[in-house]
Amino acid sequence: MSRAPSSAARGRRKADKARGPKPPRQAFRDEAADIGVEARLAAGVLLNAALEGRGGLDAALSFREVASLPGPDRAFARAVAMAALRRLGEIDQILDRKLQKGPPLAIRTILRIALAQTMVLETPAFAAVSTAVKLAERDPKTRPYKNLVNAVLRGIDREGPGLTTAESNLPDWISARWRATYGEAGLAALALAAREEPATDLSLKPDVDPAAVAAEVEGEVLPGGTVRTGRRGDVAGWPGFEDGGWWVQDAAAAVPARLLALKAGETGADLCAAPGGKTLQLAASGADIVALDRSDTRLKRLRANLERTHLTAEVVVTPAEDWEDDRQFDAVLLDAPCTATGTFRRNPEVLRATKPADVAKLADVQHRLLDAAADRVKPGGRLVYCVCSLEREEGETQIIAFLRRNAAFTTTPADPAAVGAPAEALTPEGWLRILPSMWAEHGGLDGFFVARLDRVA
Ligand SMILES: C[S@@+](CC[C@H](N)C(=O)[O-])C[C@H]1O[C@@H](n2cnc3c(N)ncnc32)[C@H](O)[C@@H]1O
Repeated sequence: MSRAPSSAARGRRKADKARGPKPPRQAFRDEAADIGVEARLAAGVLLNAALEGRGGLDAALSFREVASLPGPDRAFARAVAMAALRRLGEIDQILDRKLQKGPPLAIRTILRIALAQTMVLETPAFAAVSTAVKLAERDPKTRPYKNLVNAVLRGIDREGPGLTTAESNLPDWISARWRATYGEAGLAALALAAREEPATDLSLKPDVDPAAVAAEVEGEVLPGGTVRTGRRGDVAGWPGFEDGGWWVQDAAAAVPARLLALKAGETGADLCAAPGGKTLQLAASGADIVALDRSDTRLKRLRANLERTHLTAEVVVTPAEDWEDDRQFDAVLLDAPCTATGTFRRNPEVLRATKPADVAKLADVQHRLLDAAADRVKPGGRLVYCVCSLEREEGETQIIAFLRRNAAFTTTPADPAAVGAPAEALTPEGWLRILPSMWAEHGGLDGFFVARLDRVA
């Protein structure tokens, strides 16, 4: 295998440089040698559950193998699984060069978990290899392969991984879609963004000083006022959490509520509100807010966040289309359920769990919810529609169709600078198409589509 970098590899390296500073230091580099086999087993359980389908990763967090671990080991297991999901295509490219024929899934899982540790978390190779071999030894079904595990991992450590492509981490149907929508260069930039672990973003109440919070959490203040930090771990232990002056929310997720521009004395409705990051922004404006969602379970987190931040909103549990209430509002936010393909940085499992048919299925739901949301807007009022999806059917196409069937609404162009969005996100129609590859100099942001629609008076 030739190790000389190809021109494609040089191009990728250049693109890597263009993405700006490396993301925050990966945790677990030093601790990994002391964390044992059980945590690696749990990482494999999480990885396979995530690959099984939507909701798999969340469900697996309560499985015995994961839930019984001490906190730091559980956090390590999750970090390994997330790293494996982000780099799965590359990991398999490397393994496939070393394996004569496909080993059982249990062995591939052990190998994937070991490579995620060495390639991404900078776990020392001796720790990753010895725990992988011990893991293979434990089960009579995998025991015959323990020498293979040892040889493959030691070989990769000795000879290096060889060349890999960021695009291999994306399922083929996703690559094909993004190539068609965003072009070859757009796809390459998205594939690079999908390899990186994102920082943590905080949204602040309007009376909280961003510079002071940034100093407390060793972060930077982004355009728009979001504070970004490379800190890790449970935010409940961070300075200022108890005071309720901030909450965790990706910089892109903070844009739609800013675009709605609610003022004190106005009324607003957030029709798909849980778990509530955008509700908190709306409530912090001083307007009277109704936060509605069909899921009572998800609204529990919203209620807890309202309590911690000392903000208020009327909370309603019902599907938006069935809401038996005849109120209309100055401003309505519809953050509709979607494939969430724009959140792959935080939720790498989403690209594996989403299936091609989900796009059309969710577009139908969004269509119904948009009509229900439009009915809630007072004449002269406004509606902001957003989705954290990169798929046109859930964004641009949805709004084009809405404007065709609703003559009472017009679109009002967004000003990216005023709402803390990248300038290049502005579409010719005046909507925002935020891509995770934008703001590379800050470390990227989630993908969102956002449009503001005004109801004629
Ligand atoms: C993208 S999430 C909303 C995130 C939220 N706005 C935030 O910022 O934290 C979509 C939400 O829509 C809710 N949902 C799905 N279908 C709904 C419906 N028909 N009516 C109301 N809520 C619905 C889901 O329960 C989910 O909480």
